Amino acid sequence: MSGVEHEYIKDYIVSLIGDHDGILKEIEEYASEKSIPIVQRETARFLELMINIKKPSRILELGTAVGYSAILMSLSSHRKNHVITIERDKNMVKIARENVKKYNLGKYIDVIEGDCLEILRDMSESFDLIFIDAGKAHYNHFLPYCLKLLDKEGIIVADNVLFRGMVASDELVKRRKITIVKRMRKYLNMVSDNDEFMTSVIPMGDGIAVTVRRN
Ligand SMILES: C[S@@+](CC[C@H](N)C(=O)[O-])C[C@H]1O[C@@H](n2cnc3c(N)ncnc32)[C@H](O)[C@@H]1O
Repeated sequence: MSGVEHEYIKDYIVSLIGDHDGILKEIEEYASEKSIPIVQRETARFLELMINIKKPSRILELGTAVGYSAILMSLSSHRKNHVITIERDKNMVKIARENVKKYNLGKYIDVIEGDCLEILRDMSESFDLIFIDAGKAHYNHFLPYCLKLLDKEGIIVADNVLFRGMVASDELVKRRKITIVKRMRKYLNMVSDNDEFMTSVIPMGDGIAVTVRRN
């Protein structure tokens, strides 16, 4: 068991999804070769599903890495949305920008270099989908800014919220991960214990939390 999903369930779900081809397959292979973390296959499918249901026109992503999920979100809308994605690692920013250019997505995806917290502080435009996938120890710090930037009908999808199962069970917590676990629990409490928003936590991939405004 990966901590969140039984291996046989994960394998079965992934087998139903099938493989990407073209651009996404190329980036998946590159990321795997270089051990760069990108969204898991079933989480990628979940994002594609959200985009098909919600049809967001403006997407904010925290944590670009090489641009895989930003490109996936752009392609799954047939380039009908605009993705702004934030990354602090210079080398990742360079590779992500090269990927965006290589696949002619420059009109649809902006890669912003910087720390999410600092960039979020200065942002004022609204987004109808926000994907949080950067700095697991800081989701609770990102959240107030994300809620402020979220469109009335918007959705926040946060990845890794169960963090290998540690967030759900003290028995699994590794000592050096205690801060991440405590802060991730704080994030989940903030989005769950809230009169204005409601959240569903899904034990998929490394755990996903989906948050929307209550009707
Ligand atoms: C899991 S990876 C993102 C993967 C990407 N969303 C994908 O699926 O293709 C997380 C990225 O967030 C970046 N990161 C971590 N903390 C950050 C912060 N505070 N501000 C900006 N980027 C951050 C890391 O450098 C890393 O590249």
